[in-house]
Amino acid sequence: MTQDEVIGEVLIPADVLANRVRELAADISRDYADKDVILIGVLKGAVFFVADLMRALDIECEIDFMAVASYGSAMKSSGVVRVLKDLDATIEGRHVLIIEDIVDSGLTLQYLLRNLNARDPASLEVCALLIKPARQKVDLKLRYVGFEIPDRFVIGYGLDHDERYRSLPYVAAIEG
Ligand code: IMP
Ligand code: MG
Repeated sequence: MTQDEVIGEVLIPADVLANRVRELAADISRDYADKDVILIGVLKGAVFFVADLMRALDIECEIDFMAVASYGSAMKSSGVVRVLKDLDATIEGRHVLIIEDIVDSGLTLQYLLRNLNARDPASLEVCALLIKPARQKVDLKLRYVGFEIPDRFVIGYGLDHDERYRSLPYVAAIEG
């Protein structure tokens, strides 16, 4: 298939993404005013989102990254998660905000929350750009959510299919 055949319906255009990122940043700036907050971007999908979000904040904050891989097929998470890259920072006693690209089953995030909670942060919250409510298997508390999307596999704005399409400026469904 050519690239044009893979990219399907645009679900969230670039300008809508940008506006929502600014709204989320305003909420986060208000909620974390005067707090020592560290953003944890989950590699690789959240890279574009966290970069835009951080620049839209009007509070000081740090950024760090974690990479995890979920065992299972490319399009379905198994819930068995392996840490590929851990944080550089120590988060004990700090306000931690996990920045995720998408919550599908929620199993990856559930693992991350448990893993980071065990390090005794002062607080631990999640900001997810996208959630697929129809597919969620675990009930997770998501403090900030960008968009709820239907049960479709999406690409763009950091999200990949086999490591491709991350740089699309919008979020689109894949064909087929
Ligand atoms: P979960 O553990 O099922 O919530 O899956 C989370 C991870 O699967 C995300 O961080 C993504 O890397 C990947 N993923 C889930 N749905 C999609 C999608 O529609 N497009 C691209 N990646 C996805
Ligand atoms: Mg992925």
